[in-house]
Parts: sequence; C-alpha cells; structure tokens
Amino acid sequence: MQKLTTKIFIDGGEVAETIRANEFFLAHFGYPLDGQTTNPSLIAKNLQAKMEQEGNAGKLTPELAIEEYKKIVRAISSLLPHGSVSIQVFANKETPADEMLTQARERITWIQNASIKIPCTLEGLKAAVIVCKEMPINITLVFSQAQAAAVYEATREAKYPVFLSPFVGRLDDRGESGMDVVANMLRLYKPGDNHVEVLTASVRNVDHILYAFKLHSPIMTLPYKTFLLWQEAGFPLPDSEYTYDPKSLTPIPYDETIVLGKNWQDYNISHELTDKGLAAFWSDWTSLFSS
Ligand code: E4P
Repeated sequence: MQKLTTKIFIDGGEVAETIRANEFFLAHFGYPLDGQTTNPSLIAKNLQAKMEQEGNAGKLTPELAIEEYKKIVRAISSLLPHGSVSIQVFANKETPADEMLTQARERITWIQNASIKIPCTLEGLKAAVIVCKEMPINITLVFSQAQAAAVYEATREAKYPVFLSPFVGRLDDRGESGMDVVANMLRLYKPGDNHVEVLTASVRNVDHILYAFKLHSPIMTLPYKTFLLWQEAGFPLPDSEYTYDPKSLTPIPYDETIVLGKNWQDYNISHELTDKGLAAFWSDWTSLFSS
C-alpha cells in the first residue's frame, strides 16, 4: 500500500493507546504512525488515573508530574522513533514569552524527535519568533485565519518544521464549521513558501478525517476514540466524488481582507476559544496538585 499523502498522528497521553493504534495502522497501511501530539489535559488525565490506581491520589508534586510527562513522552518517542512527538509548554494568559522559551529549551532535550507546542497568544508568538530558529514547533489552540496569518509571519525565519494546529472539533462544538477554517488556512498559505504545515487537530469523526484528506491537510492528529472510529470503518479514504457535509454547522467564510505579508503583530490573533482552551489546559494540569 502506498504511503498516505497526509501524515497521521495520534493525539493522546496514554502509551497503551499509542501501541494499539500503531499496531492497527501498521497492519493496515504497512508503515507506522507519523507521530503523536500530547497536551497538558491528556497527560493530567493519565497521571490522575495512575495515582488513583496506585493509591497515591493527591501525592503528586509539579516536579514529579513533569518527570512523569517526560517518561510518557520518552516511551512514545521510542515507539515512534521516526515520527514527531509534540510536547506542550505550560502556560496561562499571564505566562511571559521568556518563561515559554525556558520551558521549550528544556523540553526539547527530553527526546530526539520533539516538536514544542506553544499557544497562539501574543506571548506565545513572541516566543515562537525566537524558538522557531532553534527547534521544531507546533502552534496550538488555533481557530482563525488571522491567527494562521500571524503564525506564518512570526515564523518566517524558521529553521525547523513549524506546525499549525487548528482545533476543528471545538469550533463544531459551538455550531461553527471547524473544517472551513482548515480549508481557509490552506488557501491562505497556497501562495506562500510552505514553511508552516497545517496539522488538523481536535478531530471528532470520520467525516473530519475524510475531508482533511480531501483538502490535503499535510498532517492530522486523531484522538484514540476517533482513530478507532476510522479503524472500525476499515480506514476509508475519500474518493474523487467525496464532498464534506457540514450538516447544520454555520459556515466560516474565507476572509479576502486577511492576506500574508504584514507584520505578525498587525493581525488580530485574539479568539475566545484560544483563551478558553489555555485556561482549561492550565486548570487540568494544576488541579493535579490541588488536593
Ligand atoms: C491537538 O494537538 C490537541 O491535543 C487536541 O487535538 C485537542 O482536541 P480536543 O478538542 O479533542 O481536546
């Protein structure tokens, strides 16, 4: 079987899921998964369960939790040595760029195939301008065409791969067609130099998967649950007749006024879901230590 043109990552914090998904994928396509994304909520869920199981609930410290995150990522990296494994910085709205830079420089030493996830906030992009010259990065919590334009311009000098993660499912959750944002970003980047790769994230169903293939999203990351839906359906791929049905979701039209070529600070990067997502990652992580 030929290699898929879209790279497939698994999105999770549980090594057993990576093992299982990789077995299914390898058996069907003849090659391993292309990588994995993690985030603080997924890792926190894993650690919470582990601590409860071991009767150690409430005993985790931030230092121990980071060590556990490192162990999980190392295990994943050894399963997918030729893939890319995203490790996220811990940040809230107040976290300055310098702090994210320090975290990025430390996390990149954990494994040989890391990509460092940085949120699409003003401070996050200030950090990205510098860190994209030092290591692969993945800009996360992206929801708009304007954010995609800002990321493109902020990382123009990148010396390593830059991923951009639009969270389609979270837009769908509030009644907007998240896949439209992926289509809009790919259209925006078409005349560009390809230094940013759109990584379709927060994928909830097989239709998202089929449309991401159809749009030629360079990468998509599938939560284990969604991966299983695709596997159970026999790993379908879209044929030439395939069209995406957004059902009752409100379309997100392409904005002709947002073009590449400005300073990154000139784009309006604020988005309610970015703020909400950042706050949730922060509270899921910090709640590990609150009891
Ligand atoms: C991507 O990198 C994120 O971890 C993920 O796709 C978020 O998805 P969710 O909306 O299912 O939490």
